[in-house]
This record gives sequence, structure tokens and C-alpha cells, in this order.
Amino acid sequence: MITISAPGKLMLFGEHAVVYGYPCIVTAISERLEVVIAQANDMPDDRRFVDAAIAVWGAGRDVKLSAKCAFSGKYGFGSSSAVTVATLKALKPDADNRMVFDTAYKIVLDIQGVGSGFDVAAAIYGGTLYFVTGGKTIEPLTVGDMPLIVGYTGVKADTKTLIADVAAKRAKEPEKVERIFGAIGKIVDEAKIQMIEGDWERVGRLMDFNQEYLRDLGVSSEKLEALIAAAKAGGAWGAKLSGAGGGDCMIALASPDMRQAVEEAITKAGGEVVWVTPNAEGVRVEP
Ligand code: PMV
Repeated sequence: MITISAPGKLMLFGEHAVVYGYPCIVTAISERLEVVIAQANDMPDDRRFVDAAIAVWGAGRDVKLSAKCAFSGKYGFGSSSAVTVATLKALKPDADNRMVFDTAYKIVLDIQGVGSGFDVAAAIYGGTLYFVTGGKTIEPLTVGDMPLIVGYTGVKADTKTLIADVAAKRAKEPEKVERIFGAIGKIVDEAKIQMIEGDWERVGRLMDFNQEYLRDLGVSSEKLEALIAAAKAGGAWGAKLSGAGGGDCMIALASPDMRQAVEEAITKAGGEVVWVTPNAEGVRVEP
């Protein structure tokens, strides 16, 4: 019997633009998903990712496994990519990270049709990554304690539809959207430097700039805006949506002495504060 765990993720900078070849920054979070091989109970609702992974690396084997997720699928922390990665690793513990990435990314693309693979990379490599679509670049960033606050909107994001909406906007206004993507790409590159420096106040400001462009792309929502405004009024250095938009979570950065005020403001605005630690370890075999 072998137990493998993989972390969930949060997009910090660069969502949507990353689908078109620009970089993003993603962090792996403390909430993990566990796959135990050689038991058959308690399967996740959506078995497609597990079955696809078994079809690729477990063919001809009588594989029985169970999956247990420490976080609810509702938050958008990437349970589909985490379960795909953990299952592949359970089937081939010696496979190297790149091989797991290429195989898992293909499975996720086959099932979901779209996506940059940033969530797959976070599940495998962990930490905080500077990432370019399809894993063209997967660069681990050495960052210190990130004073991150996460607020859940209570609304499920429809990632596929939001990606399609952005594609439609890009077809209609190609120059405008390319300009937005280019500006987001520049923010990501500066955020990378400031995160390594540990200048979280500046990184917070960059979150604000990134959020303005996401708003222009049309992927924010009233609820996200309400939680972001509340976090800022509560004293956060900056805040933005995280992921496709439309719902799921927002993130904020604040100095430790402002954390409580920011969390209270998010709660008062109707959000649910989710306590997660960023920069978590990637996929691993559990003892
Ligand atoms: O909704 P999430 O958390 O899966 O994030 C989607 C981020 C996008 O950039 C819109 C898509 C992607 O795969 O990079």
C-alpha cells in the first residue's frame, strides 16, 4: 500500500494571459489531496481524472485506489490536477517530475479541453513557481514568508466558460486584449523580482494593478469586487481575484498587524476566510 499526497494551488499573478503564452506566478498551498493505492472505497465524485491516469500508467494492472481530499472542491484549489498528479505518482513513484507533468497535463487537457497547466505544475513541484503555459518554463522562486490572506466568495467559478469569454473578447478586440495581456506579463515579471526581494507592500500594489486589468478583461464579479474592496479598506496592501474569476477566491497581502482587521473586513463583506499556507511542498510519498 502506498500513499501519495499533492498540494492544492492558488494563482498569485497572471491568470488568463498565461493561456496565451505570458508568464504567471502560482503557489502551492498547505491543503493536500491524498491518494492511497490498493484500496477501493471513498472515491472522489469525479472519477474521470483517476480513471484516465490509470488508463495511461496502470494499464493491465488490477489497480484499486482511494482518494481523500483535505480541502473541499468548492474553493477552486485544483483538486482535479492534484488527484491526477497523485494518482500518476502512486502508479509510478520513480517517474521524474517532467514526465509526470507532461502526462498529467495531457490528461487534464483531454478532459477539460483548455488550460495552461499551472495547477498541474504546482501539484508536482510545489513551492512558488514562475510558469509559462504548457510548462515551457517552470522556475521555482525562493520566497520568504508571504503574508497571504484568502477569501472565498461562496460562488463556484466556471473556468471553462471564463476562458471562452476571454477568447471571444480577444477575437473581437485583438489589439486591446493583447495590450492587456502584455501589461499583465510585465506585472508578473516585476512581481517575481519583488517577491524574491520580500517587498510585500510593493507586491500588494502589483496585485492591485493586475486586478485592474482582470476587471478590464471582464472576469471579475460583484462579489469578488466587494471582498477586494473590503480587504483594502481593512488595511491590505493590495488584493485581487485568484484563478479564472467570476467566483472562487480572492487573495490579499497585508502586514501581520493588519491581518485580523483584513480578515474581519472580508468576513463582514460576506466572504469566508480560508486559512492556508502558501509555498507548500509538491507531490510526495507519505510515510
Ligand atoms: O480557475 P482556476 O483556478 O483553475 O484558474 C484558471 C486560470 C486560467 O489562467 C484562467 C486558466 C489556466 O489554465 O491558466
